[in-house]
Amino acid sequence: MVISSKVKRIGILTGGGDCPGLNAVIRGVTKPAQDNGMSVLGIIDGFEGLVEGRARELKDDDVSGILARGGTILGSSNKGDPYHYPILKDGKIEIVDRSQAAIKNYNAWNLDALIAIGGDGTMHICKKLGAMGMNMVGVPKTIDNDLEATDLTFGHDSAVYVVAEALDRLHTTASSHHRVIVVEVMGRYAGWIALNGGLAGGADIILIPEIPFSWEKVYDKILKRELSGKKFSLVCVAEGAKPLDGEIVVKGQDIKRHDPVQLGGIGELVARKIEENTQRETRVTVLGHLQRGGSPTPFDRILSTKFGYFAIDLAARRKFGRMVALKGDQIKNVKIEDAISKQKLVQPNNQAVRTAKAVGISFGE
Ligand code: F6P
Repeated sequence: MVISSKVKRIGILTGGGDCPGLNAVIRGVTKPAQDNGMSVLGIIDGFEGLVEGRARELKDDDVSGILARGGTILGSSNKGDPYHYPILKDGKIEIVDRSQAAIKNYNAWNLDALIAIGGDGTMHICKKLGAMGMNMVGVPKTIDNDLEATDLTFGHDSAVYVVAEALDRLHTTASSHHRVIVVEVMGRYAGWIALNGGLAGGADIILIPEIPFSWEKVYDKILKRELSGKKFSLVCVAEGAKPLDGEIVVKGQDIKRHDPVQLGGIGELVARKIEENTQRETRVTVLGHLQRGGSPTPFDRILSTKFGYFAIDLAARRKFGRMVALKGDQIKNVKIEDAISKQKLVQPNNQAVRTAKAVGISFGE
């Protein structure tokens, strides 16, 4: 590792929703940093801690034994965007710009660089703080895998593992009772979790936002399977999936978040419509935050550790405004703005979709 004498003190935070592998990154940053004479300050609860001035020193003992632990030892928040900061005023939530408080704390803590681990929201904030003079390095995380400029984000593989295991378990009960079981998975506006989880778990129908589906095609697939002797079906539906003649299903709004929309409910709708239109007994399972909790898979542990090490290396070399990224089997670095130029969505004719179709999985087209 090449160390610049100007980089002595590194801040680190985890922003947005948590996911498996965050602690592995924190460890991957802190151990090499300390071995190379740098100190690491852990900022509590993501950007909220940066604005409010909450942080603690991270020493070797703090990061020992956390490789396999889910969540984040630092805490996280998806309501701490310094440029869209919710405060309570006269009993009402008001959104204000607190970026100056973030800069003030960064300077007061004598940080030479800040490593921010997060998804697209975090990378947008990194870019703006960088423009205001902070030395930012990004690490891409999200179970959704929807960040451009990296082949993968860590956390995705762990979420896919949960979906595959759930489908395996639901398979046996669906086939025993000759039922249709609909499994709603996360992913926001991208279908990566449903596609990869559905492929891994052998779903019969996968519904994703990038391929709006026809209700008739969904019913047809279930009835055709029955004609061929398969009296059960598994449907893996992404929370952001929508029918050709309808809209995304929204569960609620939270103005404290930069993107206030909370998705959820498509699973219930799909199950109800299938039961009404095919008269086949149908059940629904919403996997929700099970996909975000728990221990990272070995793949995610390795990716997160590499991301952590490469992030501290970037900081030490004063390569600011960059995000670590997986390209093929190599860790590279890209401009943070490249990661947020657009959302990485499933191309409707990509290799995984074509493979799924080739083995008989319907996308409701
Ligand atoms: O971005 C990760 C994610 O888990 C999405 O898949 C999901 O829509 C969202 O976060 C859920 O957010 P929350 O934890 O705030 O309910």
